[in-house]
Amino acid sequence: MELEHKHILLGVTGGIAAYKAVELLRLLKKAGADVTVIMTESAKKFVGITTFEVLSENQVLSDLYFDTDASVKHIELAQKADLAVIAPATANTIAKLAVGLADNALTTTLLAVTCPVMVCPSMNTDMYQNIRVQRNLDILEKDGWHILDPDSGVLACKTTGAGRLPEPWFILDRMEALLTRKDLNGKRVLISAGPTIEAIDPVRYISNHSSGKMGYAIAKAAEKRGALVTLVSGPVHLESPVGVTRISVESCDEMAARMMEHLPDADIIIKVAAVADYKPVDPKAGKIKKKEGDTGLTLNLVENPDILRLIGEKKTKNQFLVGFAAETEDLEKNAVLKIKKKNLDMIAANLVGTEHSGFKADTNKVKLIFRDGSSSDIPLMKKEQVADLLITHILEKMR
Ligand code: PMT
Repeated sequence: MELEHKHILLGVTGGIAAYKAVELLRLLKKAGADVTVIMTESAKKFVGITTFEVLSENQVLSDLYFDTDASVKHIELAQKADLAVIAPATANTIAKLAVGLADNALTTTLLAVTCPVMVCPSMNTDMYQNIRVQRNLDILEKDGWHILDPDSGVLACKTTGAGRLPEPWFILDRMEALLTRKDLNGKRVLISAGPTIEAIDPVRYISNHSSGKMGYAIAKAAEKRGALVTLVSGPVHLESPVGVTRISVESCDEMAARMMEHLPDADIIIKVAAVADYKPVDPKAGKIKKKEGDTGLTLNLVENPDILRLIGEKKTKNQFLVGFAAETEDLEKNAVLKIKKKNLDMIAANLVGTEHSGFKADTNKVKLIFRDGSSSDIPLMKKEQVADLLITHILEKMR
């Protein structure tokens, strides 16, 4: 969302990882950005100019003297840029940028930008760890540019260590984070997401259809807005959001223990998890065998602790507590009851049981209801957008 209609400068320098810049460009375009690629001469030895030109739908800038227009074009591009990223950034270009050299289209343009700049170093481990390279990166960082640490692994030169360009999706994620307003800066947000699973025996369990998408979207949005996020997650098939501390749990008891452990540090607590209300009284140590002649099996269940209610009892007046209510009927009435019963500041009443809203869907439709009786409808939209609006509403109420 942050990249839509934004002007992005993508600087590509001459490293083997230049091929990853093609994928980064593709992702940027998919996110709705207007991208201009600036290549150094050596970058062109790794990837052809045409590839970038076709994918970006913009002329690639690489030779300031190629046409008369280019001598001012770099200034125009620098002035309208919302974000510049250099991926991969070689030791040579990093050194030039650190001293302010302007000897090619990329270094010259970057001297003129006023927007945030992200530098993604990529090179052999010994080169990366070289004191001069580190000193130059320090200079750029102190000047206010953002350095994205390289990944570790087997490099093109067959050595193993730090120096690999992070994957394009990761670079994109960090670019989005740079462009996001930091209105949650320093706030600690504790989120629970996903289902819980309650063992019947070692191979069977009781659970529900929560995919974790809604809770993970909130964790991701909060991190991008500057929060320190702890995500207590039931078993889901999602990647951990970048920059978020994820704690994996299975049962309601485990989730309760981890939530209570982190509660004292939290400013905002958001319980999105679909917790199993009941668990088997006596989970078996061995697999329950089907016996000849059995026509049925009775499971004895006992109520699980209500984590949200426990948090509501313990929370201080400075902590903002949000619950979710998954309902198939009487949505508002049931949600309002939960605000009182569980001492909540806000509840997101979530209509479930439809294809496009609630469990598993990529979209959601919720009604936010506050302790003071006010409410706000969030119409059907992507869970990422719901997450952002939800945070905005929380911040407004906290103020
Ligand atoms: O994960 P997705 O596939 O993206 O789906 C998202 C969602 C539908 C799971 C989510 O948007 C949602 O509605 N979550 C709440 C589901 C739920 O358990 O609702 P509930 O009405 O049963 O519980 C109300 C609140 O009490 C919830 O905040 C729940 O976390 C909490 N609770 C419930 C039972 C329990 N034992 N402990 C709890 O803390």
